[in-house]
Amino acid sequence: MRVVVIGGTGHIGTYLVPRLLAAGHEVIAMSRGKREPYHGAAAWARVQRVVADRDAEERAGSFGAAVCGLRPDAVVDLVCFRLESAQQLAEALRGRVRHFLHCGTLWVHGPTEVAPTPETVPRRPFGEYGVQKAAIEEYLLDEARRRGFPATVLHPGHIVGPGWPPINPAGNLDTALFERLATGEEVTLPDQGLATLHHVHADDVAQAFMRAVESWSAAVGESFHVASPAALSLTGYSRAAAAWFGHEPSLRLLPWPEWRETVTPEQAAATWDHIAHSRCASIEKAQRLLGYMPRYSSLQAIREALAWLIDNGRVEAPPLE
Ligand SMILES: NC(=O)c1ccc[n+]([C@@H]2O[C@H](COP(=O)([O-])OP(=O)(O)OC[C@H]3O[C@@H](n4cnc5c(N)ncnc54)[C@H](OP(=O)(O)O)[C@@H]3O)[C@@H](O)[C@H]2O)c1
Repeated sequence: MRVVVIGGTGHIGTYLVPRLLAAGHEVIAMSRGKREPYHGAAAWARVQRVVADRDAEERAGSFGAAVCGLRPDAVVDLVCFRLESAQQLAEALRGRVRHFLHCGTLWVHGPTEVAPTPETVPRRPFGEYGVQKAAIEEYLLDEARRRGFPATVLHPGHIVGPGWPPINPAGNLDTALFERLATGEEVTLPDQGLATLHHVHADDVAQAFMRAVESWSAAVGESFHVASPAALSLTGYSRAAAAWFGHEPSLRLLPWPEWRETVTPEQAAATWDHIAHSRCASIEKAQRLLGYMPRYSSLQAIREALAWLIDNGRVEAPPLE
């Protein structure tokens, strides 16, 4: 198939584009051309690259036509964040593609009420990002089920891989926290440290997209969680990460109002977002219907990302044990 990947050079695309090529598909990666994939240079020589700024083209009303003009059999949309964006593209592609795959997020769910959370729970998102993604999911699945638009929605957890910082054990992107765990310095966690995070390796997200492409009849009109086999509590994650440096963590628990004063406003906002969601997603549906088999546990994925940060001088710490 001829597959257009919108936003094909980021975390997911770095793994998905080479996987599509290896499966014999013709791949067109669309992006603004501001960044390169994290690795896999050899495979990328066979990828057609199209430079386009989706936001600018949407404002001009030309984005849908631009994607249609590439004559795709399938479109993987990795960078859609507003309902109007999804509508504009779906309307342009109606009757013209065999498969349309949208990248959603586990943030379509609000605070965890059932753990692991299945796809069937009512959506109660909070925050603009989750609200928009839930609206996109509802729109695309409705289009699929009522009007035959061949949409599938995949909802990844916190995406991890070598090349960028993982969400840390406090639920934010402060890489210095890993340095404190490495030296045995005290690390504070909010509340009881029992909020959960649900990571997924970027290559496992790519695997899920591949499996959905290969499982058209099971995938169309459906949404799927894409995460590692199990979520981690902040405390469990801290303990495992400290063990990579050969010791127990020195943990102190602080009530949220006190804890938030110990970090920057940006870090506090990121942590709040993660602990208020406290994600723990079921992946049973993707396993059963798509044959999704994550290769990485959360800790294996995070460990790979942390090892890369250390090797590349982004975290000052000894090599992991
Ligand atoms: N990050 C996470 O932990 C996480 C978790 C759950 C779900 N998600 C979902 O994952 C998707 C993002 O995938 P990702 O993490 O692989 O993305 P990413 O690493 O942020 O990469 C974004 C890609 O899109 C391109 N891009 C950005 N803005 C663009 C624009 N205006 N027009 C055209 N191309 C553009 C980028 O290249 P250029 O900059 O060169 O244009 C790049 O290829 C989103 O739908 C997000 O909601 C992410």
